[in-house]
Amino acid sequence: MKLALFDAKPYDMPGFDKYGKERGIEIKYYETKLNEDTVSLAQGADAVCVFVNDTVNAAVIDRLAEYGVKAVLLRCAGYNNVDVEYCFGKIHVMRVPAYSPYAVAEHAMALLLTSIRRIHKAYIRTKDFNFSLNGLTGFDLHGKTVGVVGTGRIGRVFIDICRGFGMKVIAYDKFPADGIDYVTLDELFARADIISLHCPLTGETRHLIGRESIGRMKKGVVIVNTSRGGLIDSEALLEGIKERKIGAACLDVYEEESDVFFRDFSGHIVEDDTLARLMTMPNVLVTSHQAFLTEEALDNIAAATVDNLMEFSDTGLCPNELCYRCGRIEECRKERREKCF
Ligand code: NAI
Repeated sequence: MKLALFDAKPYDMPGFDKYGKERGIEIKYYETKLNEDTVSLAQGADAVCVFVNDTVNAAVIDRLAEYGVKAVLLRCAGYNNVDVEYCFGKIHVMRVPAYSPYAVAEHAMALLLTSIRRIHKAYIRTKDFNFSLNGLTGFDLHGKTVGVVGTGRIGRVFIDICRGFGMKVIAYDKFPADGIDYVTLDELFARADIISLHCPLTGETRHLIGRESIGRMKKGVVIVNTSRGGLIDSEALLEGIKERKIGAACLDVYEEESDVFFRDFSGHIVEDDTLARLMTMPNVLVTSHQAFLTEEALDNIAAATVDNLMEFSDTGLCPNELCYRCGRIEECRKERREKCF
């Protein structure tokens, strides 16, 4: 099997080299992202492997199919960058549904604690032998209400962590699970001291946090987003911060991150004025889509992606193949463990 791996980073390679070699997969690494301009690099490959900011739109899918590429392997859980419906009948798409929910949930809590206890500021101060505490006053998490949007794998781990801190947890999910105190989204916005987003980005959840919802939140609310940037309207967030409505924002993802994140812009001019303005705010903490980045997660991602490819090549079936929402609900082949096409 030949695999073309796009948007390759040095930290991706050890795991893919290890598991690829074990299974006899020939991997070509490309630093560039997959998009309409770079898709020709996939010629000769049986499958392409992509990450969160590669573009798998109709034009790219047509070209991949034309080159005889059989599968798109997402080395991540989210797939909002893939036109899944358009893939039906043309190319199979698999993802890694879970690799370490702990990595992401722990990063969400790390961001929250760093922000509200001003650890990032204290670190810089003490490095400079400035041991003053002025301006570093935080607040206790114990007793605060956290509103968790999306109670899947990551959301549930985050809830457990919050409960360990003695926080009151309320949640909203389109598909509620047992053992969680669910409220409406309106109630969550109105009651939460901290809001943490763990739902996927879909047409329905885009700009879930926007002018209108921010208006309904408590003054001083802390927003944590480790899910997808498009869940938050960045302009509205900036406004909410300027109006002192939002107490702090902890962002591991950003709406327009694909042009900026994962790259070194030090010494360069960042074109994105909204991001630049957000970064100047003392109460905004940004990490560049780093939440997944643990040794355990990277190893699990590589192992599961290679497993997906081998299972697909051996049987034509893979449980991690996405649902193409083909509309044939009454005769869903995926549910019958048959090939979708
Ligand atoms: P999951 O699929 O286990 O859980 C997602 C939850 O969101 C489900 O319970 C689902 O019912 C719920 N949901 C779906 N539509 C909803 C809606 N309209 N409103 C409210 N809830 C809704 O996914 P998992 O593994 O927990 O991941 C969550 C998100 O985290 C992913 O979609 C992905 O975007 C993001 N992620 C971010 C990473 C990072 O490095 N920053 C790494 C991995 C995932």
